[in-house]
Amino acid sequence: MGLIELIKDKFKKPEGRVEGVEKVTGKGKYAAEYEVKNMAYAVLVGSTVPAGSIQSILVDKAKEVEGVLDIITHLNKPIVPGLSTEEKIKEAKLGLPVFHTNKVYFKGQPIAMVIAETLEDATFAASLIETEYHKESFSVDFDATKESVSLKPEGKERGSQDSWRNSQFIIDQQYNIKADVHNPMEMHATIAHWTGNDTLRLYDKNQGVNNVQKTFAKLWALPEKNIEVFSEFVGGGFGSGLRVWPHVLASIMASKQVNRPVKLMLTRPQMFAGTGYRPASWQRIRLGSDGSGNLLGILHQAKNGTSVYENFNDGITRVSRLIYKLPNLKAEAAIVPLNLSTPTWMRGPGDCTGVFALESAVDELSYQLKMDPVELRLKNISLEKHPDSGLPWSTHFLDEGIRKGAKMIGWNSRKAIPKSSVDGDWYIGYGMAVGMWNAGRQEAKAAIIMHKDGSITVQTAMTDIGTGTGTGMQNIAHEITGISKNKINIELGNSTLPPAPSQGGSTGLSSVSGAVHDASNQLKLKLADYASSVNQNFKNAALENIILSDEGISLKDKSVIFVAYSELFEKNNLNEIRLEVSSKPGSEREKYAFCSSAAHFCKVRVNKRTGKVKIEKLAVVGDGGKIINTQAAANQMSGAAVGGIGMTLMEENQIDAKLGTVIGNDLAGYHFAVNADAPIIEVEFINKPDPNINPSGAKGLGEVGIIGTAPAIANAIYNAIGLRMRDLPITPDKIL
Ligand code: MOS
Repeated sequence: MGLIELIKDKFKKPEGRVEGVEKVTGKGKYAAEYEVKNMAYAVLVGSTVPAGSIQSILVDKAKEVEGVLDIITHLNKPIVPGLSTEEKIKEAKLGLPVFHTNKVYFKGQPIAMVIAETLEDATFAASLIETEYHKESFSVDFDATKESVSLKPEGKERGSQDSWRNSQFIIDQQYNIKADVHNPMEMHATIAHWTGNDTLRLYDKNQGVNNVQKTFAKLWALPEKNIEVFSEFVGGGFGSGLRVWPHVLASIMASKQVNRPVKLMLTRPQMFAGTGYRPASWQRIRLGSDGSGNLLGILHQAKNGTSVYENFNDGITRVSRLIYKLPNLKAEAAIVPLNLSTPTWMRGPGDCTGVFALESAVDELSYQLKMDPVELRLKNISLEKHPDSGLPWSTHFLDEGIRKGAKMIGWNSRKAIPKSSVDGDWYIGYGMAVGMWNAGRQEAKAAIIMHKDGSITVQTAMTDIGTGTGTGMQNIAHEITGISKNKINIELGNSTLPPAPSQGGSTGLSSVSGAVHDASNQLKLKLADYASSVNQNFKNAALENIILSDEGISLKDKSVIFVAYSELFEKNNLNEIRLEVSSKPGSEREKYAFCSSAAHFCKVRVNKRTGKVKIEKLAVVGDGGKIINTQAAANQMSGAAVGGIGMTLMEENQIDAKLGTVIGNDLAGYHFAVNADAPIIEVEFINKPDPNINPSGAKGLGEVGIIGTAPAIANAIYNAIGLRMRDLPITPDKIL
C-alpha cells in the first residue's frame, strides 16, 4: 500500500470528505501549485503614495536584471479589447482598471509588473523600479471622513417613525466596527496560460470559475468556451474570491506580453490591498418598546467605507428587516470614500455587521425592561412571515433554535444582574444573540455519468472553498441512487464542467443540490429504460420502484428481477450513460420567503485585573433546512464561530492615517482567532428539510454561523462586568 492508500484505508469514515485525503497528503493542487512547462513569474509593484498620479516610472535598471523578460506599466500594456477606450473601461465595471490609468487611488495599487524567469529575479527587479508621483491629498480615516457624507433612505420605510416617538423604553446608541481582512490561509494566485492565440487557461484561486470565465471572455472578446478556469482546491475564501481582482487580469496581460505561461502569486501584505476586506462601519440604532417588551419601532442608520474609485455598500441595515416584527422601521445608509482599495463581501457580509448593532440594542433593552433576553427575542421574532414582503416563511425554526441553545449553554445559571457571578479574578457572564440570512438559490447544472463498472461520477463547475460541497453532492447521489459512496466520484471546480454559480452567500449547496438530486433520479429512470431491453418488467417503471445496487438494477417487491449493469451496458451497446440536469428557482419564490437562521449563546469570563476576555463556551443552533452532511455542516458553523471570535475580540485592519499605509499587513500584525483562542463550540442543527426551497430541502448555512457571534459575545461581556461594548474589536484596553 502506498501512503495515500494507507491513509484512505485508515480514515474510511462514512462522513469523510471526498477531497480529504488529497488535501491532507498535499496531492490536491491549489492554484499556485500547478506545474506548467516554461512558466515565467510575475511580481507586482505597488504605489508608494495613497493618492495622486504617476509622473514617471523608470524601469531601465530593473530591465537589466538577468532573467527579466519584460516590465508592464500603464505606458506599454498589451491591448485588452474590452479596455481599449475610456468608455469600455467604464462599462467593464472591473473596479480598478489595472495598468490602464496613471491615477493612484490607494497605497499599494499595482502600478507596474515585472515578468522574469524566476520569482527571485522578478522580486529583485521590482525593487529597482523608480516612480515619481504628483501627490494629492487623501483620507484613509473612516472616523474622520464619515461626517462628510449624508445618509440616504435604504429600502422602503415601514409604518412611521412618529408613531413610536414616545415609547416607554428607548435605546439610542452608536456602534463602530473596524475594517476586517479575509486572510484565507491560501494566498490569491493565478497561473495564466495562453494555450493558443485565442485560448486561455487559468489556474486561479476564486469562488466561482464561471464568473471568472465570463469576465475575461468579455474583456478579451472571446467565446466563453475559449477560456478554461480551474479552481479545484481553494484554501479558504470568506468572500475574497467572489469577484475578479486586478492581479488576475495582470497575470493574463503578462502571459500575453511574454507569450509564456505566467504565475502571479500575491504576497500576504499585497492581499491587504488587493483582494478586498470588510469595510469599517458606523451605525446608530434607535429602538423602542412598550412596557411589556413589544418592539414598536426602529431607526437603523449605517455608514461603511468604500474606495474612491468604486461604490461598495455592505447592506448593513438589511438584517433589521428580517428578524423582528417591528411594525415601524426606517433604514438609512451612506458610503464613505477613502483612499483604500475597494472592500467586498466578507463572512456574513452586511448582516454580520448590522446584527452586532441590532442585537446589542435588543440586549440593552432587555436590561432596561428587566426581562430575560431569551424571552424578549421569543416575543418579537417574526416567525410566520417575512416582515417586509409579508410572504410566509417556507420554514423558520428560530424559536426552537433559541430554546435549544439556551439549554446547551446552561442559560439557567445566568444571573440577571451584571457582576454577580465571580470566580476569583474572573467575572462570569452569559449572552445570546440571533442571526438570520435570506436563503438564496441560483440556477446550477450538474452531470451524472455512470461508467461500465457501475461507478458514477458527479460533476459541476462549482468550486468547493472548504465548505464540503463535493462531499454533500456525493451524499445526495448516494442517498438517492443507493450506490455506495466509494463508487461515487466527484469532479468540481473547473469551468469545463456543467456551469454553476459562484460559491458564496450561503447559496452553494442550496443551488447545486437540486441539480444533483434531479440528475440522480433521472439516472434511475434511464437505467430502468435501458434495463427494459433485457427484461420487460422494467418498462415504464415508476421511480419509487427502481432500486439500484453497486452491481445492477432491480425492482421493489420483485427481488428476483435483476439486471446487472454489465449486461445492461452490453445489450444497449453503451460506453457510459451521461445525463446533465439544470435546476433553478421558480414560482415558489413568489409564494414563500426563505431564510436560514441561528441562535448563538456564549459563556464568557472577563478578568478583573487584565481585561482579558476568555470565551468559555459557544453554543450555536443552526437552521439550514435538511443537513446533508452533519460533519461538514458543523465544521462550517464552528469555523464561522471562530471567525466571529476574531471579529469580536481581535481583528482590525490598522491603517496609519497620516501615511495612508496599512500597517499590520501580515499574520503577525493582523491578529485573528486561532485554535488557542477557540473555546468549546457546540453546534446543533434543527435539521428539518425545507420542502419548497429546492428538491434537496437544504438551505445555506455558512453566513448564519457568524451572523450573531459578535453580539452574543459582547452581550455576555456586559452580563459579566456591566460594561456595554459598542465598538469592535473588544480589546482589553476597552474593558479596563
Ligand atoms: Mo461568502 S462572504 O459568502 O464567501
